Amino acid sequence: MVDADEIAELCYERFKQLPRRGKPEAGREWTLLAAVVKIRRRASSGAVEKEVVSMGTGTKCIGRTSMSPRGDVLNDSHAEVIARRGCIRYLIHELRRAVSGGDSAVFCVADQQGKWRLQSGVSFLFFTSHTPCGDASIIPMTDAHDQAQPCPPVTSVKGHKGTEVGGKRKAEEHNQGEKTKLPCPVEQERGDPKQLNFSLSSKRVTLSQSHSTETAVETVSQASAQLEIKTKIPSDTAGLHLQAPDIHRTGAKCVPGGPADLLQAGAAYHSTGVLRVKPGRGEPTLSLSCSDKLARWAVLGFQGAMLSLYLQEALYFSTVVVGKCPYSKEVMQRALFTRCSRVSHLPAGFSLCPPVLLQSSLEFPFSQAQIKLRHQAGQGRISPCGAAISWCNVSEEPLDVTANGYKHGITKKALGTAKARSLLCKLELFHSFLSLVSATDPSALPDSLRKTELQTYWDYKQASQLYQQAWQQLRSQAFPLWPRSNRDLLLFH
Ligand SMILES: *[C@@H]1O[C@H](CO)[C@@H](O)[C@H](O)[C@H]1NC(C)=O
Ligand SMILES: *[C@@H]1O[C@H](CO)[C@@H](O)[C@H](O)[C@H]1NC(C)=O
Ligand SMILES: *[C@@H]1O[C@H](CO)[C@@H](O)[C@H](O)[C@H]1NC(C)=O
Ligand SMILES: [Zn+2]
Repeated sequence: MVDADEIAELCYERFKQLPRRGKPEAGREWTLLAAVVKIRRRASSGAVEKEVVSMGTGTKCIGRTSMSPRGDVLNDSHAEVIARRGCIRYLIHELRRAVSGGDSAVFCVADQQGKWRLQSGVSFLFFTSHTPCGDASIIPMTDAHDQAQPCPPVTSVKGHKGTEVGGKRKAEEHNQGEKTKLPCPVEQERGDPKQLNFSLSSKRVTLSQSHSTETAVETVSQASAQLEIKTKIPSDTAGLHLQAPDIHRTGAKCVPGGPADLLQAGAAYHSTGVLRVKPGRGEPTLSLSCSDKLARWAVLGFQGAMLSLYLQEALYFSTVVVGKCPYSKEVMQRALFTRCSRVSHLPAGFSLCPPVLLQSSLEFPFSQAQIKLRHQAGQGRISPCGAAISWCNVSEEPLDVTANGYKHGITKKALGTAKARSLLCKLELFHSFLSLVSATDPSALPDSLRKTELQTYWDYKQASQLYQQAWQQLRSQAFPLWPRSNRDLLLFH
C-alpha cells in the first residue's frame, strides 16, 4: 500500500524543481497538476522505490474548430491528459532502449513475438492535485461529508435558479446573515467573513476564473473551476437551517444523445454516471472529461493503441491518488470504474483493473484555493495559468511548455511549422513511435507491424487489433455515446 501524502509530496517537490517557464504567476495564477509515478518493489530487499516519470500542468481545452487535421495541435491540455501523454513519450523512450539492447528501467521481453512487458515489481500510479472533471466532480454535500471536507459550514437556501457569473465571485451584500454554501475552492476563506458574502441576486455563482483574456475557442474546465454553487433563498423560515441535499457540480456537459442533466435544485441538478465533454466557451469541445478518460484507461490501459502494438498486456494504473480538494471515494469509484465494471469479452491482454483510490491531505500550493487564500489586493485578478507544462524523464527535451495547443511563446508566423509543435501532439508522438519501429530489428518486430504497409496514424492505430477489439467491447457495453474519432483528422503521416 502506498502512502498518499508521500506521493503528493513527491509530486509537489518534483514540480518545484521544474524551471520557471510556464509556471503560474506568483500570487495570482493557479493551475492543476497531475503525474505518473513509477513504483518498483524489490523482491529481494522489500524496498519500494517511487519516481515521477511524467508530470503535467494545465487547465485548458481547445474547441473543435481549432482542431487540426495535421495532428499538430494539443486539443486537450488538462493536467491529467498532459501527464498521460508525457507518460507515453516516456514509455516510447523506454521501449527504444529495450529494443536497442539497452537497459530499460521498465520493460523486459515477453513471450509473444516482438512484444514486451513490465519488469516484475514495476507498476504505475496516477496522481492528480484535484478531483478529475466530469462525473467524479459531482459530489454530494452531506453534513458528514462536508465535515470530512475542507468546506466552510453551510446553510442552504432555496428557490432561485442560477445564472452564471463568469468567474468573478461576487463578494457583495450578505443576505440577511445567511451563510452561503461554498465548494471547497474557497475553503481557505473561512477565516475571512467578507468572502462569504455572495450576491444572491446573481443566484448561481460559478467559481471559474474570468475569461477575459481567453480566446473564444479556449475553455477552462477543470475540476475546481467547474464546481458551481447555487445559492438558494430559504422557503422555510430563516433560522431553521433546513438543508436540502446539494452537490458539488461539474461544468462538463452531458454528451448529446443520452440522459441530460435535470438542472433541478440541489442533488437533482446533474445526471450521474454519464459521459461528459469538457465545457466550451463559445463552442463545445470534443474532448471527453477527465473522469471519462480515466475510466477508459481502467479498461483499455493508458498506453493507447500504438503502444499496444509492442506490449503483450495493457498498462493500468494500480492506484489513483488525489490531492486535498472536494472528494468522495464513492463518487470516484462510480466515475472511474463502476461504470465499466460489467464489461466482458475483453481480448487477451486486457482486463478490468479497478485502481486503488486514495486521497492525500496535502494541497497543491498552486491550487485555485491556495492562490485565493494568499491573494492580496493589488496583485491583479486571480486567473488560471494559460500555459501547460509537460516534463517526462526522457533524455532529449524532457520539458515541453505549451499554450493554446502550441509551443509556448511561438510567434504567429511560426504556427503550423515544426517549431511550433508540442512534443505531445499526435503527430510528434506518432513520429516518435515510428522512430521506435525503425530502431527495432526487422526480425524483432511484432507480427502486426510486419505484414502490411502502414502509412498514416490511422493505419497504425487500426493495426492494433486487440486494442480496437477491447475498445469495441468497452464502447458497446458501457459507453455507446463516446464520440467516434473522425478518420479525416487522423490521416496524417
Ligand atoms: C458580510 O456580511 C457580514 C454579516 O452580514 C457583515 O458583517 C459584513 O460587513 C459583510 N462584509 C461585506 C464586505 O459586505
Ligand atoms: C482531440 O479531439 C479528438 C476528436 O474529438 C479526440 O478524438 C481526441 O481524443 C482529442 N485529443 C485529446 C488529447 O483529447
Ligand atoms: C530519470 O530516470 C533515470 C533512470 O532511467 C534515473 O536515474 C533518474 O534519476 C531519473 N531522473 C529524475 C529526475 O527522476
Ligand atoms: Zn479535466
